[in-house]
Amino acid sequence: MAICTAVLPVAGLGTRFLPITKSIPKEMLPVVDQPLIQYVVEEAWSAGIEQVVLVSSRGKTSLEDHFDSNAELESALDAKGKQESLAAVRGLTPPDGRTICAVRQHAPLGLGHAVLCARAIVGNNPFAVLLPDDLIWTGDSAPGVLSQLVEQFEKSASSVVAVMEVEQSQTCLYGVIDPFDSEIDSRERLIKAKGLVEKPKPDSAPSNLAVVGRYILTPEIFNFLSTGNKGAGGEIQLTDAICALLAQQSVYGYRFEGVRFDCGDKAGYQMANIALSLERPDMREQLIPFIKEQLLNYSAE
Ligand code: UTP
Repeated sequence: MAICTAVLPVAGLGTRFLPITKSIPKEMLPVVDQPLIQYVVEEAWSAGIEQVVLVSSRGKTSLEDHFDSNAELESALDAKGKQESLAAVRGLTPPDGRTICAVRQHAPLGLGHAVLCARAIVGNNPFAVLLPDDLIWTGDSAPGVLSQLVEQFEKSASSVVAVMEVEQSQTCLYGVIDPFDSEIDSRERLIKAKGLVEKPKPDSAPSNLAVVGRYILTPEIFNFLSTGNKGAGGEIQLTDAICALLAQQSVYGYRFEGVRFDCGDKAGYQMANIALSLERPDMREQLIPFIKEQLLNYSAE
């Protein structure tokens, strides 16, 4: 069965980025010249998604506006002969036959609750979830991560979550896969999960394979999200629901190709800006000598 719908939870408070997130949604923060949300929406379109569902909240209409047409701006750019900018603006509206819609999460009750808010739109179909905070750069070397997961889903018809290897000391920051086979070949990308442990201490972590913000889930996940059970932080957690799903169905971790930046964190966000700016030929020439000079200043301290 094809994956047609992608749910993008964007209703969080973004407290780690205050004060900027008091009036600007975290998902609208730019990496180079595109807001975070644009990276995931484009990743969704290129994976064949037909419908993007933003799970939004009060004060976040700029997210929907970003993908709407703006006749006034377009005719001003046209009149000035700014064809490149015009193409960039026009390219934001969904491609033919695709749609973006929004539902509201009335209170930030957790990521799991945000996903549950999209239930009526998703229906009884497998669907994707993408977290805009996780910018995963594949460049020209691989298809987007969601395309990679879709390919796996097509083979296994089971839920599949993106995983990456982290330092053992970092397991306490993530949901970590408990692999079905105790020995995992380091070249193996698709790993069957026996369990999922939220933020395990390094010495008790079942592996160093951490779940990051891309998922393909079967609709049975909604049965577990709708129990209202609260997990860490008193929130309805997606990880807990995936754990419960695991008792009934196979769930796989997929070690994706790509570099992940945690843009929900200030340092990770700056890393994404540096790395993606360096990917731009028009900026690289100016940036490299500047960065080298900065590094010299710091190493002299
Ligand atoms: P985070 O855990 O990063 O929370 O959410 P947050 O509120 O965005 O940021 P901090 O931790 O306060 O700085 C991960 C993703 O889940 C969404 C967020 O918008 C983000 O895309 N989310 C989280 C919701 O949509 N609703 C929620 O209740 C919680």
